[in-house]
Amino acid sequence: MKSAEWGSYEDAPRLVTDVPGPESLKMLADQDRYETASRTYTSVFKIGVSRARGSTIEDVDGNRFIDFFSGVSVINLGHGFPPVRNAIRDQLDRVVHINEMPTETRMNFLKAFNSTLPAGLKDRSKTMFTVTGAEACETAIELARHVTGRKTIVAFSGSYHGVSGEIISATSNPHYRGYAGIGLRDIAYIPYPYAYRFPFHVKKEDMSAYVGDMLRHMISDPYAGPGEIGGVIVEPIQGEGGYVVPPDDFLPAIREITQEHDVPLILDEVQSGVGRSGKIWASEYTKVSPDIMCVSKSIGEGIPISMIAYRNEYDEKLPPGFHLGTYRGNPLGMAAGNATLNYLRDSSVLQNVRSNGSHILKRLEEFAQDNSYIGEVRGRGYMIAMEMVDDPATKKPGTRRAARIKEYMFRHGVLMHTCGHYSNVLRFMAPLTIEPDLADRGIDILGDALKEVQ
Ligand SMILES: Cc1ncc(COP(=O)(O)O)c(C=O)c1O
Repeated sequence: MKSAEWGSYEDAPRLVTDVPGPESLKMLADQDRYETASRTYTSVFKIGVSRARGSTIEDVDGNRFIDFFSGVSVINLGHGFPPVRNAIRDQLDRVVHINEMPTETRMNFLKAFNSTLPAGLKDRSKTMFTVTGAEACETAIELARHVTGRKTIVAFSGSYHGVSGEIISATSNPHYRGYAGIGLRDIAYIPYPYAYRFPFHVKKEDMSAYVGDMLRHMISDPYAGPGEIGGVIVEPIQGEGGYVVPPDDFLPAIREITQEHDVPLILDEVQSGVGRSGKIWASEYTKVSPDIMCVSKSIGEGIPISMIAYRNEYDEKLPPGFHLGTYRGNPLGMAAGNATLNYLRDSSVLQNVRSNGSHILKRLEEFAQDNSYIGEVRGRGYMIAMEMVDDPATKKPGTRRAARIKEYMFRHGVLMHTCGHYSNVLRFMAPLTIEPDLADRGIDILGDALKEVQ
């Protein structure tokens, strides 16, 4: 959708000052006085934001940036997308907060959401609202533990499920547990089939079976170590772990084993969901239906809302008040979610994401032919990764190199974020509606950055 009143600023990237510009610097200094030093995004994207349109962001100095970042995969349909903005405005005039009481918007959203779910959950599941992605994942593991009566949850290396409460244990980066001052609690890890850095000497095509064998051993052998397994939580495509697309036989293998042993399978679609992979749910690529699914981020297009969908049978085991929260099920978020799901269903946006995503992937692969510091290019839809290394032979992570590329791009008007086990993976996660020529302009700048940092 491009119209006179909506779409990206056509002149982006437009730099009218050096960046950060003087007004941004003043605002950032002021922010430093009042806000926590633990902020991370403003250490790279050093701008005070004035407004945002489509896939572009204008700073307080009048510079316009291309947004390859989407507020970490939240603004999926673009900043100020009219159907979403209008739905939020309309809801704002009706009711903003009403706890669990049904409204027309809530019912429309629940039905629209249900209609998109994987086959095993569609018309066979209940929805429980939460507020953040971490809370959805946290609630999912609590539910799995409750219905099985078993404590240990299996998670995967490279996982990111949030950093609050119990779920922090299922997030693989140990720094977060260190900051929170807790140890690993009732979580057992197995490797994700991350071909570029798989820790065992097995062929790429055997990785899923290998990981499956580890999971089967952990579930079925009482002396395996971690105790009785109450659930498996997995991202269909890893997000913060490095935009890692597993082989297509991975999720089916995990599904088969969990089903065999009656262990709930939790799919965390917080980042990969709502169109980012080129399908509404990334699990659609392999037709795997989980027992519990976690959704957040772009379903609210910037309004905090999250939820889990879970099998009807589990609902029979839940007492009232199993999970509580004042802000669960925000009406503005549901209005946004309804407009988003309808648009994904009725427009050609997902098809565009798949074809433009392939085009971008191809461009990055071309860069890789001339640049040995690009260890791997991978991705699906608009989850596209370029993993930087310092030494192609040893795969020594190119953390500093990725940071310098990110900095170059920022200074030339593109906001691109990193992820990965070593923060060495540049990731393309632009809004799904980004204009193809704008995306190409940003990728050209990535090409320049690669030459500069070479
Ligand atoms: C896959 C996944 N799950 C959970 C979360 C946590 O979401 P939140 O930051 O809203 O707590 C994230 C956040 O990046 C995520 O990528």
